[in-house]
Amino acid sequence: MSLLADKRILLGVTGGIAAYKSADLVRRLQDQGARVRVVMTAGAQEFVRPLTFQALSGNPVHTDLLDPAAEAAMGHIELAKWADLILIAPASASCMARLAAGMADDLLATLCLASEAPLHLAPAMNQAMWRHPATQANAQTLQSRGATLLGPGAGSQACGDVGPGRMLEPLEIVEQLVSAAAPAQVLKGKRVTITAGPTREALDPVRYLSNHSSGKMGFAIAAAAARAGADVTLIAGPVRLDTPADVNRVDVTSTNEMLAAAEQAADTADLFISAAAVVDFRPAVIATQKIKKEDGNDSDVLQLVKNPDIVATIAGRKHKRPFTVGFAAETEKVIEHAKSKLARKGLDMIVANDVSDPQGGFNSDHNQVVVIDQGGEQALPAALKTELATQLISLIADRAFGKSG
Ligand code: PMT
Repeated sequence: MSLLADKRILLGVTGGIAAYKSADLVRRLQDQGARVRVVMTAGAQEFVRPLTFQALSGNPVHTDLLDPAAEAAMGHIELAKWADLILIAPASASCMARLAAGMADDLLATLCLASEAPLHLAPAMNQAMWRHPATQANAQTLQSRGATLLGPGAGSQACGDVGPGRMLEPLEIVEQLVSAAAPAQVLKGKRVTITAGPTREALDPVRYLSNHSSGKMGFAIAAAAARAGADVTLIAGPVRLDTPADVNRVDVTSTNEMLAAAEQAADTADLFISAAAVVDFRPAVIATQKIKKEDGNDSDVLQLVKNPDIVATIAGRKHKRPFTVGFAAETEKVIEHAKSKLARKGLDMIVANDVSDPQGGFNSDHNQVVVIDQGGEQALPAALKTELATQLISLIADRAFGKSG
């Protein structure tokens, strides 16, 4: 999957002949799975009609700051918050000057001021304009504030000049965005074991005890760890999820199977993350035939025994003990209970998960957590589990190995 997949990209198009290439750029970004909305300046509309971008992006094109109809559909602040990334291509000399000066006199400049999303600019202008000290100073100012310049390239220009100032080709721009989106390799050379999903304890040949875990959180963490350069073993309970890229998957069903797989993987692991929702009790005996209600079985039909605690077993190792991170799924007094689990299970870190929140926890695409260790607490606000997983991996890598992304 591309690193731009599902990224919400706000493409700003400013006035310049290279604006025609931005139509193809929309397509190339969509090829990567990105969701694209286009903002055009007045100058850009002199070169290409908004309808072109509307047809290609599948979304209305935003052109005016003070258009009541457009504001009613998606206001400029909403649009600024929507963007994961702002890309201005082509970025004219005038656009760069106005951004460097912090102007908010048209929609695109206002969005750049109002958004916290990373800003990428693909300059396009005449070679003399690019070389001019004013433009160079503006470029430096923008870079010093965190903006990334993509290009410009050099070569023959529409005006007949030859030199720097050509907008990069759409594919080159996409390649540079993909490299910029690549996460820091904070787990390079590390072996990481992650448990995910539920366990399942058979009662008889047709019934079992389990819970609502979908495995999404643990799988997202495994994917994020692999992207961060780790050698990942994912021990998965019974879930319906595809294996993330570059991850070794071990499928298990019961808690004892998960424990055996965890013990084996932990022998060589630097980091163990227990995101699985492990069933705490299992039937003392698994009936070999389907349990019948006609057999005089009453309310005491089930006798349960306690399952081993997998994460506590790994954390309690005297030798070959990886840095051990647990989760705490709680419905009340979340921090208090999580802290007590951190201590009781001998963990290095715990991720407190309020599973009473219907917007997060079990089987949701979203989650919000508080990470707790000896150093204190850090809240990671509501986000897609895929995004939260990236933040978790960078936080854990920092605490476990002193590597920050
Ligand atoms: O899978 P999803 O649908 O995406 O949902 C994500 C999640 C809610 C399952 C996940 O984010 C989460 O909170 N996982 C831990 C669930 C849990 O069982 O919590 P717990 O508080 O009961 O257990 C505390 C810790 O001990 C956990 O790390 C758990 O993996 C571990 N444990 C628990 C019992 C046991 N016998 N062995 C264990 O290793």
